[in-house]
Amino acid sequence: MTFLETEEAWERLRSVRSEADTGPAGLVRGPDGRRRWSAPASPQARLLVDRYLPLCLAGPRLTIAQLGQSLDGFIATRTGDADYVTGEEDRRHLHRLRALADAVVVGAGTAVADDPQLTVRACAGTHPVRVVLDPRGRVPLDRRVFTDGSAPTLWVVGATGERRPAPPDGVELLTLTETDAFAPHQLVRTLARRGLGRVLIEGGGVTVSRFVHAGALHRLYVTVAPVLLGDGIPGLRFDGTPVMRDALRPPVRRSTLGEDTLFELDLSAPRPDAPLDGQHRDTGEARGEGEHPVDHGHGQPLARAQARGAEGPGGDALAGAPAADVQRQRHGDQGEHHQGQQLGQRRV
Ligand SMILES: NC(=O)c1ccc[n+]([C@@H]2O[C@H](COP(=O)([O-])OP(=O)(O)OC[C@H]3O[C@@H](n4cnc5c(N)ncnc54)[C@H](OP(=O)(O)O)[C@@H]3O)[C@@H](O)[C@H]2O)c1
Repeated sequence: MTFLETEEAWERLRSVRSEADTGPAGLVRGPDGRRRWSAPASPQARLLVDRYLPLCLAGPRLTIAQLGQSLDGFIATRTGDADYVTGEEDRRHLHRLRALADAVVVGAGTAVADDPQLTVRACAGTHPVRVVLDPRGRVPLDRRVFTDGSAPTLWVVGATGERRPAPPDGVELLTLTETDAFAPHQLVRTLARRGLGRVLIEGGGVTVSRFVHAGALHRLYVTVAPVLLGDGIPGLRFDGTPVMRDALRPPVRRSTLGEDTLFELDLSAPRPDAPLDGQHRDTGEARGEGEHPVDHGHGQPLARAQARGAEGPGGDALAGAPAADVQRQRHGDQGEHHQGQQLGQRRV
């Protein structure tokens, strides 16, 4: 018997942008309401449906983030070395996320430390637009995102940094002068207005943390590698809650990526306003003015994208996950309170 294998399955999934595309791609609904391949498929090909179909069906507005981290919560050593925190399978996963995005966003720290390419190489797919968040214009012009010409690059800078040189040919400079223009929701809107509605925030810790804390993410992927660094560049850090019952405990799906464990957190459920009083611990910069609970735009909540229609509004979050891997969010007495990295391999 011939089985649908991984590469063909990925090709088919990449063609899915709406429900209407699922049939032609060879997907049908199973008795449980979940999509599956109509033809016999390898376990890996089946897994791709569970993991990526919700993203394919999420619509034109989607903001996700990823971090690969050590067991003790660091995304790089104290010297900034992140080659490699997680393993090859996580790298492939990261490249798949890139392939499903219109834009891949990194903070200035990552552009400086890693000199990433941010292109799709470990799987089939189109390179997203590369976006560098660099309010002070401190990223050197010899970085590959500025020089290799392999994909478009948008260099987002602030009004400060007057000594910033002109961008190289092929790099678009976007200067944001408004005070809150770098707030995550504003950035998402700015990118969407440029046709970049599906966004992957790829790192580093400061950048992803800001998006998490602002409630600007639909989904967060954290891959944990069985390695201890002792100290280093921290992953997620934001103003936390004083008591455990108020901690962010979003629906989560766990799966294995080689020796690593992938945690897929669904942050798309409505949540009360996150506290916006904070100064970022790492930078001391205020952020988040005017932030609002996550804007789903025209997209669909990821939690129900896979099994939508079959389950109705009460459907399980992270539908499509193996049941044993789905851990429902616990709610404290206050009701819903949703608050909650190794770059794949940092072979970027
Ligand atoms: N393991 C992984 O998954 C992974 C992924 C990526 C990176 N890394 C590692 O992480 C390290 C870098 O991470 P990091 O946390 O230090 O820095 P980062 O998140 O890459 O960059 C942070 C900086 O980007 C700018 N920035 C980002 N978002 C902004 C916003 N919304 N508004 C204003 N400015 C914004 C700011 O620049 P200014 O400081 O100039 O204001 C900020 O300090 C590197 O060592 C890299 O190797 C690991």
